[in-house]
Amino acid sequence: MADKKKITLKVLRFNPEKDAKPHYEAYQLEVASTDRVLDLLEAVKGYQDGTLTFRRSCAHGVCGSDAMRINGRNALACKVLVKDITSDTITVEPLMGLKIKKDLVVDMEPFFENFRSVLPYFINDNPPADGKEHRQSPEQRERFDDTTKCILCAACTTSCPSFWSNDAYVGPAAIVNAHRFVFDSRDEGAAERLNILNEQMGVWRCRTAFNCTEACPREIHITQAIAEVKQAILTGKLD
Ligand code: SF4
Ligand code: F3S
Ligand code: FES
Repeated sequence: MADKKKITLKVLRFNPEKDAKPHYEAYQLEVASTDRVLDLLEAVKGYQDGTLTFRRSCAHGVCGSDAMRINGRNALACKVLVKDITSDTITVEPLMGLKIKKDLVVDMEPFFENFRSVLPYFINDNPPADGKEHRQSPEQRERFDDTTKCILCAACTTSCPSFWSNDAYVGPAAIVNAHRFVFDSRDEGAAERLNILNEQMGVWRCRTAFNCTEACPREIHITQAIAEVKQAILTGKLD
């Protein structure tokens, strides 16, 4: 077919049961311009090396499970098309800053631990004023709309230089998810969350590098959300 071309897919491989350290392996593939990097990984796994290990689920940018480094940038493999990559070699590596479990699969537990530490759930034990539901205006809902879009892919946190230098830093994804509840007019846990984020490993570790915002496949304005959380801590205001 006219739009087929040959490419080299270079993958950082690591099997902790037999490798002392990670190494690259290269695979030759004939691909269509509309193929996604995830399709290339599936092609290698299906036809060249069944031991290649990576996470995927939805294949449509929704579940957040296939974040990885593609030609040096964090992205979801199911959202990057061959036609958007100019070089004929595509290098795929696991996310940085999290331990490699096997090939492209990293240990997400420290990431989820940071996420859980900011109480990323609705807190309000009071019954609704009308006895039925906690009401909210469209404007109040809009206030935190952007940060509801997170799919917990970790592309942001694992692109952050502050996280690379200290993985105890709670990281941008956790702050995004705290933001989603801090600015929810129905929630009453803001003070507790802001106290957590005001601690040594909280928002002040952010040096406004913007890598997180660039990496986010959901185009969340992460650096802005972090700035809003910093502002809320400093002023005590949630508007
Ligand atoms: Fe992924 Fe964006 Fe959520 Fe970070 S904020 S975990 S990059 S979706
Ligand atoms: Fe890191 Fe994003 Fe701040 S990359 S330093 S969390 S703006
Ligand atoms: Fe679900 Fe890519 S496989 S986001």
